[in-house]
Amino acid sequence: MKTIKEYSGIINAAIAAMTYDGPASLFDPIRYTMEGEGKRLRPVLTLAVAEAMHADVEKAVRPALGVELYHNFTLLHDDIMDNSPTRRGRQAVWKKWSEAQAILSGDTMLSVAMSCMVSSGYTDSQRLAMVDCFNTTALAVDRGQQYDMDFERRGDVTLDEYIGMISLKTGELLAGACCIGAICGNAAASVLKAFREYGISLGIAFQIQDDILDVYGDEATLGKPIGGDILNDKHTWLHICAMAEAHDEMSEIYDRKAAGAEKIDAVRGVYDRLGLRDKGGCEVERYLECAVQALDGAGLSADAHQFFVDLAHSLIGRKK
Ligand code: IPE
Ligand code: IPE
Ligand code: MG
Ligand code: MG
Ligand code: MG
Repeated sequence: MKTIKEYSGIINAAIAAMTYDGPASLFDPIRYTMEGEGKRLRPVLTLAVAEAMHADVEKAVRPALGVELYHNFTLLHDDIMDNSPTRRGRQAVWKKWSEAQAILSGDTMLSVAMSCMVSSGYTDSQRLAMVDCFNTTALAVDRGQQYDMDFERRGDVTLDEYIGMISLKTGELLAGACCIGAICGNAAASVLKAFREYGISLGIAFQIQDDILDVYGDEATLGKPIGGDILNDKHTWLHICAMAEAHDEMSEIYDRKAAGAEKIDAVRGVYDRLGLRDKGGCEVERYLECAVQALDGAGLSADAHQFFVDLAHSLIGRKK
């Protein structure tokens, strides 16, 4: 196995080598997005799982690139949906160009991502399995993103509903990234199942931490605005716990229609008083341990097993 850094280096090189044929107005926002400073977590998973399954890593680069293209497409549209002006420390595409441009360049990334699966050099049955996994994953993400928006207009979202929503919008893509890597290595169904469970739990942990960073992160390090979830009335792990433990205090803030920095400070004040930052951190660690447990079913070598354990643990307390 290689290191996380080596796998992300392979992806960054593949991104730098991408060529686009067509109007610059369509592809400039795509190049801008892809060359931004992403962590490359999802394609790293694809490459690492492929290698753990004894597949050729070079050959797995194309589907892995498709996974990263798809992820970046979701970010273009997500920033419009969340009215979020910055991403990876730079203007979001809808802000730098326009909403219409972010929609079309995003759509194009989805198509290019699909082409990466279809034109990968694998057998017909592997490519069919990849495309099927890719499409099922994308549908799950769509469902999750819809729940995320629907929840903005509801005051009674339960923790179970929230976990279901983030399993879809974030967990499924991490699971899909792993499964596409497993398909590269013709893995058995039981191995795919184990990696699916690993990806879902990893994704739940990742999103709870993302929710914490949205309130407590450092804007320069994170590259995204702080407090956007509070301004958008998002149902996050922090928000749901605060509604359960300090309902009247939270209602008072929402009833008086506090806005902007005042609303962010008031809600953060409730989270602080309840110690939700640390409690959320414990929840992140709990889901990462679930992810590690799921690896037992994947029949990995000691070396590969350690890689995926270390990757899970590297997410604890992440700052970006
Ligand atoms: C952002 O994903 C979207 C979420 C699921 C929270 P990342 O935090 O992996 O974004 P990049 O790719 O590193 O910028
Ligand atoms: C988005 O979740 C997950 C996606 C499917 C894109 P967020 O809306 O919390 O992601 P960020 O914080 O904007 O990256
Ligand atoms: Mg967002
Ligand atoms: Mg969102
Ligand atoms: Mg977020």
